[in-house]
Amino acid sequence: MQTEKISGTMNVRFRNVSMKNWEEMRRFILASELNFPKSLRFTEQDYLEIFSRRSPVAVAVFNEDGYVGNVVGYPLSNEEVQRHKLGREDEGEIYMCNIVVDPPQNGNGYGQMLYTEIRKRSKNRGHKKIFFHIDETNSMSMREGRQELSRIENWYGTGRTFVLYESAL
Ligand SMILES: CC(C)(COP(=O)(O)OP(=O)(O)OC[C@H]1O[C@@H](n2cnc3c(N)ncnc32)[C@H](O)[C@@H]1OP(=O)(O)O)[C@@H](O)C(=O)NCCC(=O)NCCS
Repeated sequence: MQTEKISGTMNVRFRNVSMKNWEEMRRFILASELNFPKSLRFTEQDYLEIFSRRSPVAVAVFNEDGYVGNVVGYPLSNEEVQRHKLGREDEGEIYMCNIVVDPPQNGNGYGQMLYTEIRKRSKNRGHKKIFFHIDETNSMSMREGRQELSRIENWYGTGRTFVLYESAL
């Protein structure tokens, strides 16, 4: 089992999520989708599509009681760079498509840990930037280095405004 301790935090460990351990991880990851509005939920098919891409980054965090949350990202394709109206040179940078923490664990810093972890792993792979959309009212835990690029009202029919951020790694 691939684990990693965070200094100063007891019994917290990160685990890669991939096609290799999907059978074991799928119940945690698919259950976490219920924390999103219906129109934003990823299906198992969506996850399998992400894992089949070049160099996805998918990490789950566990504590002594079990699964707590996860974060998922992948390098942007040229088509996605155009769709999100990013610069041409941003192809291959990381897009964080999903970050979620089990509601009973909200406010304990896990969101921040997952954000820090995906930034660290992306930087180690040579990426220079990370992009993500989050609800304008969402936690500020993903604030490190971020710059607002645009706002989209009624994101996927949720009635909520989402903000597209970029953050240098
Ligand atoms: C967004 C989400 C991932 C945040 O997770 P979280 O674990 O609650 O986030 P954190 O605990 O790191 O941060 C939440 C707040 O608690 C604070 N906090 C409390 N205790 C903390 C601690 N021990 N260490 C760090 N921060 C702490 C943070 O500063 C932050 O405050 P802020 O919002 O005023 O900046 C979570 O709310 C979620 O899963 N939402 C539903 C899914 C979603 O909308 N995802 C984002 C769009 S993809």
